[in-house]
Amino acid sequence: MSLINVDDARAIARRRLPRIFFDYVDGGAFAEDTLRANREDFGRWTLVQRVLNDISVRDLSTEFLGTRHPLPFMLGPVGFLGLYAARGEIAAARAAHAAGIPLCLSTFSIASLTELRAATQGPLHFQLYVMSDRAIGEELIAQARAAGVDTLYLTVDTAITSVRERDLRNGFRSLTRITPGLALRLATRPGWCVEMLRAGMPEVGAVKHRPEFGRGALEQASNLSRRIDTRLSWKDVDWLRARWDGKLVLKGVLAPEDAMTARATGVDAIVVSNHGGRQLDGASSTIAALPAIADALGGDLDILFDGGVRRGADIVKALALGASGVLLGRAYVFGLGAAGEAGVARMIAHLREEVDITLALMGLTSIDALKRLGRAALNPR
Ligand SMILES: Cc1cc2nc3c(=O)[nH]c(=O)nc-3n(C[C@H](O)[C@H](O)[C@H](O)COP(=O)(O)O)c2cc1C
Repeated sequence: MSLINVDDARAIARRRLPRIFFDYVDGGAFAEDTLRANREDFGRWTLVQRVLNDISVRDLSTEFLGTRHPLPFMLGPVGFLGLYAARGEIAAARAAHAAGIPLCLSTFSIASLTELRAATQGPLHFQLYVMSDRAIGEELIAQARAAGVDTLYLTVDTAITSVRERDLRNGFRSLTRITPGLALRLATRPGWCVEMLRAGMPEVGAVKHRPEFGRGALEQASNLSRRIDTRLSWKDVDWLRARWDGKLVLKGVLAPEDAMTARATGVDAIVVSNHGGRQLDGASSTIAALPAIADALGGDLDILFDGGVRRGADIVKALALGASGVLLGRAYVFGLGAAGEAGVARMIAHLREEVDITLALMGLTSIDALKRLGRAALNPR
């Protein structure tokens, strides 16, 4: 089967991964309305086609988070990459770094920051969940500093974990260890099983040295989830700011009012995100929320964007509507689940080509020119 685009990668990952993990990646909260809207609402905009501009020399580099990046997108934080492919975090980071783009490591990762840094030298970001026990956060911040992380993301749209009905049906949420029933279900994907057995028992890198979190990734993740601080509030952003002197990003902002408060707290950027439709079902799609947030901020704060990005045209639309950079989520994770590092590299190359062709056929020669043109590059459908 061909691996030309993200849909192909999703189809291959679906056959390769045990259903319990494929559904965990693919699914969203409750009725999955927001998950669907994230994709469908890109269709509310069309691209303006312009002709007979010399497009022979093109430049996809652009600036976000105060740095020039070779591409307008990067790999965002997704939990448990090491369960979709052996050493999945390292595989994804290597593919990102080969393309010169950052990977943001999730708190819920099999590889620790230290392991990741030892394996690859490119730009590394870290996503933090703040636990009630602040000592854990302080320890992770220190690890991030030691690993040369320059950007920390505080995810703010997970005050509590929503219900993903596919996970309920598959018993994902209640899993803490491999039961005989689960072992049977995993055995339906022998290729994946062999790969995982070779890699050894997966554990959550951030807490595997802490016995109170138990043993094995499933038990450790469930203990971590229960300890996420539900009292988190704006004053905790100050707590973090005081401990982290690198760039700080708030991930999961969807309302203009929150975007303005974020700016007032002195963060370096926000990610307009609804966690890929996995949290507040019924919330607006991110592409529908983006213009009002960009208007409210008036260019004063860097805006990153994620949610439903599967095509180069999606990236172009987000940049035209005010994003300075885009985070990939499932788009690269499906590549990882389909073919490991090569699969992630394939998805990055595919999206790079699609953005490039899309720009050229819009009569544009650079991402910066697209950003300058802004909404004039699009028409409402
Ligand atoms: C399986 C899965 C796990 C995720 N884990 C995290 C996480 O640990 N931390 C986080 O901030 N966001 C997490 N996210 C959200 C992504 O960072 C991102 O917001 C979302 O995937 C974007 O939507 P898309 O996948 O449709 O592109 C996760 C998303 C998925 C699909």
